[in-house]
Amino acid sequence: MNPSQPLRVGRLTLSDRASAGIYEDQSGPEIERVFAGLWGSPVEFIRRLLPDDRARITEALRDLCGPEGCALVITTGGTGPSPRDVTPEATRDAIDKELPGFGEAMRMTSFPTVPTAILSRATAGICGRALIVNLPGNPKAIAECLPPLLPAIREALHHLR
Ligand code: MTE
Repeated sequence: MNPSQPLRVGRLTLSDRASAGIYEDQSGPEIERVFAGLWGSPVEFIRRLLPDDRARITEALRDLCGPEGCALVITTGGTGPSPRDVTPEATRDAIDKELPGFGEAMRMTSFPTVPTAILSRATAGICGRALIVNLPGNPKAIAECLPPLLPAIREALHHLR
């Protein structure tokens, strides 16, 4: 991480309906709002919106972590139990090492107030020199899940650069 350069963050929304234009993607912009507010120094976002297609998601993750030079990629959506939800599988296809604590912490911190939080199978891991973190797709979940993860995100990025 070069402190004089903005942090490059990929934000990837996974939703069949948002990618088809059936509804607006609110979760992607919400990632930008919440993360930029937490980070405290300049952030440059690389934006992607894809349907729930495992191979395309893996390809996009590899592209964001490789040629696009993102230090961090935050995904939203596709973590639940529905047949089309494949974000954790696509993430595992892209990563070298899984960091299961991110998903565990998200479920643990949300569960007392959001009992359905345990339906999310969100995970995280290292792809090359980048960190990938899955968040649930509900726009409200972004502000609920991201803040407790920030110390571990900072530490992981420090180790990776
Ligand atoms: N976690 C938080 N904090 N807030 C939420 O609203 N929604 C849950 C869960 N985790 C939710 C949450 C629900 S209802 C589902 S089905 C799963 O996330 C998976 O959502 P996804 O498939 O859109 O990723």
